Amino acid sequence: MSTLLITGGAGFIGANFVAYWRRSRPADRIVILDALTYAGNFDSVAPLCDDHTCKFIRGDICDAAAVQALFRKYDFDVVAHFAAESHVDRSIYASQVFTRTNVQGTHVLLDAALTAWKSSFDGRRFHHISTDEVFGSLGPDATPWTELSRYDPKSPYAASKAASDFLVRSYAHTHGLPVTITNCSNNYGPYQFPEKLIPLMILNAVTGQKLPIYGDGGNIRDWLFVEDHCAAIALVLRQGRLGETYNIGGGRQIPNIEIVGLLCDEIDRRFAENQSMPARFPDCPAANGESTRALMTFVKDRPGHDRRYAICADKLAHELGFRADTNLADGLARTIDWYLANEAWWRRIQNGAHGDWIKLHYGVET
Ligand code: NAD
Ligand code: DAU
Repeated sequence: MSTLLITGGAGFIGANFVAYWRRSRPADRIVILDALTYAGNFDSVAPLCDDHTCKFIRGDICDAAAVQALFRKYDFDVVAHFAAESHVDRSIYASQVFTRTNVQGTHVLLDAALTAWKSSFDGRRFHHISTDEVFGSLGPDATPWTELSRYDPKSPYAASKAASDFLVRSYAHTHGLPVTITNCSNNYGPYQFPEKLIPLMILNAVTGQKLPIYGDGGNIRDWLFVEDHCAAIALVLRQGRLGETYNIGGGRQIPNIEIVGLLCDEIDRRFAENQSMPARFPDCPAANGESTRALMTFVKDRPGHDRRYAICADKLAHELGFRADTNLADGLARTIDWYLANEAWWRRIQNGAHGDWIKLHYGVET
């Protein structure tokens, strides 16, 4: 039995990971540390939590005294560090909090682990969840990034994640801290905060709002269903070589305009197949037999918008035998179904303070 500290466990990927780990290793003890920022949502993990095997603690990873106290109280074997400010657009408008959480917060956790584990690193692992955005932006014909590709972050978000990766590596090199890092491509799936492309498009579509496509819609992302990301992280936690970095990707590159079109078509199909949909969502064009694609609207581009991401995940496949199970069509269908089945979850977000930010930035500007 192991004891895991999962930071950011009330966020999108963190919550999916807690559920994944609870299913696959029910005897392990989990402590979730999450500040419940706008992106954190206790509802996403509440059903998984109790006071013994999965404990939720609201707290800030930048609070060194509190983090150290936590390490003294629980003898963590593993840290899975998800907590971060994660949205590129927000890092364009206000980036200081990105440096604080992503760099300083990671630094606080590294120090706490080093202090708590200094008598012996045996059986310990500090796993840092990072992003492919540290590598920058690819040209149309460039080969996908490997673990050896040069760091070239372009947004304040990506720069803060790159800095945190370097800090993690430095603690391994200087202090011998047992670390692993994964750099993953774009995730989608249940519990994603609806400021990110896929959930934003699904919810705007069913509620009949415009679907804002930045620039010419030709930017390419490499999409991975979140459960596959969780499976890959779990594999690295169990078998990843200490000191190593592993890329994780979906192997499915697609321009934004195409993925939004796929979502629209899938939503149209839901309306055609399910007679309750028009009554639930009367403002969606599909409620009147029109195509949801009519809502697609080009808006001004994201400043510094990275053109293309593509990940080479061969190392993970060859060393640890990882293969993503979910193809894009199935993953998108499951994601749409989850949002349709969990309206209360997203309505609370839309009706709360952050609904205003989402409307302001993604509402109707053309
Ligand atoms: P998210 O924004 O949905 O969740 C982040 C979580 O961290 C929230 O629960 C939030 O409350 C918590 N948090 C933020 N600041 C905190 C602080 N100071 N102290 C404690 N908790 C804090 O993010 P996500 O999409 O789930 O991403 C999780 C991790 O995975 C991040 O490190 C991100 O960089 C990385 N990542 C994300 C993607 C993606 O596509 N979403 C892809 C690759 C890597
Ligand atoms: O690649 C991994 C990264 O993927 C993670 O590290 C980040 O945490 C995560 O947010 C994501 O970053 P992106 O910027 O790629 O994701 P986002 O969902 O914000 O945007 C995806 C693409 O869609 C991007 O090219 C911008 C575009 N976009 C996004 C929104 C929100 C639009 O065209 N319209 C939109 O309204």
